Amino acid sequence: MVLSSSLLSLSRLFQMKFKDIELPHGHTTPKHMIPRVTLLAILAILIFAITPVSYPFFSYSSLWKINKYNKHQSSHDGKENLPSAYVEKCDIFSGEWVPNPKAPYYTNTTCWAIHEHQNCMKYGRPDSEFMKWRWKPNDCELPIFNPFQFLQIVKGKSMAFVGDSVGRNQMQSMICLLSRVEWPIDVSSTNDEYFKRWKYPSYNFTMATFWTPHLIRTEMADPHGPSNTGLFNLYLDEFDKKWTTQIEEFDYIILDGGHWFFRPMVFYERQKIVGCHFCLLKNVPDLTMFHGYRKAFRTAFKAINSLENFKGVTFLRTFAPSHFENGIWNQGGNCVRTKPFRSSETQLEGTNLELYMIQLEEFKIAEKEGRKKGLKFKLLDTTQAMLLRPDGHPSRYGHWSHENVTLYNDCVHWCLPGPIDTWSDFLLQMLKMEGITSATS
Ligand SMILES: *[C@@H]1O[C@H](CO)[C@@H](O)[C@H](O)[C@H]1NC(C)=O
Ligand SMILES: *[C@@H]1O[C@H](CO)[C@@H](O)[C@H](O)[C@H]1NC(C)=O
Ligand SMILES: *[C@@H]1O[C@H](CO)[C@@H](O)[C@H](O)[C@H]1NC(C)=O
Repeated sequence: MVLSSSLLSLSRLFQMKFKDIELPHGHTTPKHMIPRVTLLAILAILIFAITPVSYPFFSYSSLWKINKYNKHQSSHDGKENLPSAYVEKCDIFSGEWVPNPKAPYYTNTTCWAIHEHQNCMKYGRPDSEFMKWRWKPNDCELPIFNPFQFLQIVKGKSMAFVGDSVGRNQMQSMICLLSRVEWPIDVSSTNDEYFKRWKYPSYNFTMATFWTPHLIRTEMADPHGPSNTGLFNLYLDEFDKKWTTQIEEFDYIILDGGHWFFRPMVFYERQKIVGCHFCLLKNVPDLTMFHGYRKAFRTAFKAINSLENFKGVTFLRTFAPSHFENGIWNQGGNCVRTKPFRSSETQLEGTNLELYMIQLEEFKIAEKEGRKKGLKFKLLDTTQAMLLRPDGHPSRYGHWSHENVTLYNDCVHWCLPGPIDTWSDFLLQMLKMEGITSATS
């Protein structure tokens, strides 16, 4: 079931993407190019049909690769008529992890911002190789995060991390990376650890986290629920005002969500129950987690697009898969690997693929809607890079082994320092490209 619906969304996505591929050629390419484009499509469909679903081929950002391919083709005909900036673009999100002996750029003794449960070295993680990799895109270099450059770019601006604890994990990684330049001061307006606000005084740069693991209005209906992991009511068509009323002034929003949708949920629309995910309630249809996930993103994006005075850029930080092996998260699963995968060793599939595809589809809708209002949406497409990092999680090194707490092996969050530091490399690169495109357009 999951696979077939994934295939469906893949093919839908592909059609969508295909239209996009044609567009750039619309003005510049003579009609006789079209059969070649069609041929490419047929070829792609053939590959699609005969090989197992291959993530890199269909990745949203492989768009650029296909453009390059066409470009190559047309230059054979002597029709070099695409803007050159087009080929310079590189898909920074497909690549491999390569050794980086210079990493890490901070430690648990130089940075206090590491969350307890991600301070893996403190809790006795024996290996340290997992900190010593950098991301190498296939077709270019991704520079290591430069905190000075970053703070220059975001001077006088503000950035909000909206989502779950993986978003907080990313912000704490960034605080550690920026600490070579400056420490932020706590300017939170509440004592609530889930809503923190930090300010970089010399740069007048503000960073904030907004806790909203489902992105929409929810209630905890039962702290236990069918799987003893809580049962949540999700109001699929209602904004979570705890962040939607606070976000208007921000220049950048980094939105994320995913892992909380694995728990049992009851879905409401127009205040009525419409279905659920693993709620085991009589006469309530199980619509799967994917239904809730799609609607939650749709509503969150709608909230952003309906803000009257918002002028910021919204980044969707795509789903970072967990790496439980030999069992699911609350049934003994663990992540004990100590090295990254190469891209040939694994691929995005099943639930992870489905969640990712839903994000891309809802992102596309939001982006189109936003364009009418001049709002920008960007894809911080971390999924593939993180899929390759089963070694980057705290596992059992997120707490003392003798601690009497119900903490599972953590194969969801990321040790600090660790692979999540690379998200700042991506983000800075995107901000730099943003600068270039807005300067030339
Ligand atoms: C940092 O990690 C070391 C082990 O590498 C540990 O002994 C120490 O207690 C940790 N310090 C802090 C402040 O977390
Ligand atoms: C700091 O930045 C905010 C926007 O984030 C701006 O409204 C404010 O005027 C700035 N303050 C100074 C002193 O530059
Ligand atoms: C651990 O906690 C549980 C419930 O809080 C308690 O029943 C149990 O006795 C505790 N075990 C130890 C070894 O402290």
